[in-house]
Formats: sequence, C-alpha cells, structure tokens
Amino acid sequence: MKILVTGGCGFIGSNFIHYYLQKYPGDSLINVDKLTYAGNLKNLSALSLSPRYTFIKGDIADPLQMEEIISQGVEGIVNFAAESHVDRSIEAPVDFMRTNVFGTFVLLEALRKVSSKRPIRFLHVSTDEVYGSLGETGAFLEETPMAPNSPYAASKASADLMVRAYHHTYGLPNLITRCSNNYGPYQFPEKLIPLLISNAIEGKTLPIYGDGLNVRDWIHVEDHCRGLDLVLHRGKEGEVYNIGGQSEKTNLSVAKTILDHLGKPHSLLRFVTDRPGHDRRYAIDFSKIQKTLGWAPSISFEDGIRQTIDWYQGQQEWWREIKTGEYLDYYQRMYGNR
Ligand code: NAD
Ligand code: DAU
Repeated sequence: MKILVTGGCGFIGSNFIHYYLQKYPGDSLINVDKLTYAGNLKNLSALSLSPRYTFIKGDIADPLQMEEIISQGVEGIVNFAAESHVDRSIEAPVDFMRTNVFGTFVLLEALRKVSSKRPIRFLHVSTDEVYGSLGETGAFLEETPMAPNSPYAASKASADLMVRAYHHTYGLPNLITRCSNNYGPYQFPEKLIPLLISNAIEGKTLPIYGDGLNVRDWIHVEDHCRGLDLVLHRGKEGEVYNIGGQSEKTNLSVAKTILDHLGKPHSLLRFVTDRPGHDRRYAIDFSKIQKTLGWAPSISFEDGIRQTIDWYQGQQEWWREIKTGEYLDYYQRMYGNR
C-alpha cells in the first residue's frame, strides 16, 4: 500500500512515519511537509536511505501540487499538516485559516477529482479541542456538539465539517479522529511537556498559566499512532473516532512530576498570566474505538512521562538547536511580559 502523510516532519507525523514503516514492511510512504518552524527533517533522518520513504517539500494549500502528488498511485492519506499551537493561534490566526481550513479543503478537492477513478481513504487527524471545554465531570463523546474556543480549535472544527460534508455529498471515504493531548519524543518545545522538561534541564523557570489547575487528558504519541493505524485500515467511512489517554492531570501536577523526576526544586514553578479563553478541562470517552476496533491506551502516564523525560535528557542537541533564533523571539513575546 502507498500512503501519503502530510505534515510528517512534525511531532505526531514523524512518530507515525517511524511506527508505520516498521509495522508494514511491504508499504511505502510519501511525506509532504511545508517545513514551517515546527517541521524538522532531523526527526526522520534515520529514513533518508530507505527506498520505502519519499520526502516532498510541499504545501497542502497548493492545489496543483496536491493533485499531482495524490494522482501518483496513493491509496490512503493521513492528514497531520496543521498549525497546531493554541498560543500562536491567539497571537496570529491567519496561518491557521490558511493551512488548517483552506489546506484541508484543497486536499478534499484534489481527492474529489482523483477519487472519481479510484477511492482513496482520507484520515483527517483532528483534536478534542473542537468540543470546547468541560466542567468538573463528564467526557467528550463523538456526538458532543462542537464548541471550539480558540482560533486553533475553530480552524480544526471547520476542517472537520468540510471532511464530513465531502463524505456526505460526494461519497468520499473520509474518516476523522479526535485525540487528546499527546506527549513523547520529537515534540516541539513550545508545548507544555517539552517546554517544561527542557526549561527544567536548563535551570530556567517553568511558566504555569493561571492557577495551574486546568486539566488535560494526556496520551503517549505511540498509543495515538496505534489508534490512527487502526482507523486508517479498519475504521468505518464517514465516522468520527475519539482517542484519549485516560490520564487526566492538572498542569501543576505534570510540572511537579517533571521537576521531581529531574531532581529540580519546585521553586522553579512560575505562575504567569493566563491564556485568553483558556479551556478548563478536556477528557475523552474513547469507548467507540475500544468497542469497534479494540483500541485502548497501553502506556501509563507514569511510564510514558519517565521515558519522555529520559528522551529529552538524552537528545539535548535536538531541542537546544530549536531553542535559538526565532524561538527566542517567540519566547520573549509569549512569556516576557507575563
Ligand atoms: P506539529 O506542529 O508538531 O507539526 C505540524 C507539521 O505540519 C509540521 O511539520 C509543519 O511543517 C507541517 N505543516 C504546517 N503547515 C503545512 C502546510 N500548509 N502544508 C504542509 N505541511 C504543513 O503538530 P503535531 O502536534 O504533530 O500535530 C499534528 C496534527 O495532529 C495536527 O493536525 C493537530 O491538530 C493534531 N493533533 C495534535 C495533538 C497534540 O497533542 N499535539 C492532539 C490531537 C490532534
Ligand atoms: O487537546 C489536544 C490539543 O493539545 C492539540 O489539538 C493541540 O495541537 C496541542 O497543542 C494541545 O493543545 P493545548 O493547548 O492543550 O496544549 P499546550 O501544550 O499548549 O498546553 C497544555 C496546557 O498547559 C494548557 O492548559 C495550557 C498550559 N500551559 C501551556 C504552556 C505552553 C501552561 O500552563 N504553560 C505553558 O507554558
């Protein structure tokens, strides 16, 4: 099988590519990535000589390029390409509209043209943030109405609706997954866990938004990749599947776990001004994918976070190289005045 992955040089995409090529030795994979600030070729340097892996620098919002690539015998697509950071969407939403909304539309249009000859399964990787925020109890179901709160979440929700409409109207074999917060190797150090780990190693303070009691449902990226693989191959066309980690934690408890594991003092915690419109709590009900496809998370947060901290300790060159240049400007803009 020949699979097209978009955004494969980012965090989840690169983990998925490693996972997929190892699991399916008979398959080949094309990775199309625009190489924005979040895309890193080093995440996949181990595959540079693999005859089963091809990298193309490209933009999912480019109609001609997408149609040309999809026409080359692609049998399935996993769409990771996105602007993915909520804080950046609050600061400057335009790229989120361009890539997440228009880019997904461009892929769907290319599929509409090519699919009249042969159907191509299109797995759109979405997020639990489309559902909005929860109170103290309850969890998001696939039927929970969308109520996105940030420009990022709204852009993902818009894309989900187009993916749904193209299935309903044109019969495209589309699938959507909505996953909770991922962590693991190769995550860009603007997101909570790699930011806190790398700051702690550097002896810098750990910025905690608001009271630190916002809750996220953490899932190890490898568990997410396993879920995506199942949905891509066995999911029912036109359906949405929630994927969650069954591991709800406050941000403060995540930060303390990281400091304790690294033997650093809690005095490094720094409470800063809250994120505007900050969603209070996410939790995922993943019983649908569990019952229909037999998926459940397999890596506990305790094991996963230990492995992840060890990875960032061992791969300092990887993140220290990122934490220079534009990153420092971003960090100053984001945290300088908080
Ligand atoms: P990331 O920011 O690490 O990677 C995004 C990748 O997409 C980068 O390699 C970037 O260069 C590429 N890209 C951006 N715009 C592009 C364009 N126009 N054309 C081609 N490539 C482009 O993101 P991530 O955390 O790996 O997330 C991947 C996907 O999973 C996103 O769609 C995100 O919404 C979704 N998701 C993420 C999480 C999470 O916790 N990180 C959870 C649920 C869903
Ligand atoms: O839920 C899935 C989503 O998870 C994905 O769709 C997004 O792409 C991904 O970025 C993530 O969004 P969050 O906003 O939840 O992740 P982030 O790592 O930015 O923040 C996690 C929590 O930590 C959130 O409550 C905000 C808080 N936070 C974040 C940062 C960067 C802090 O307290 N301090 C920080 O410096």
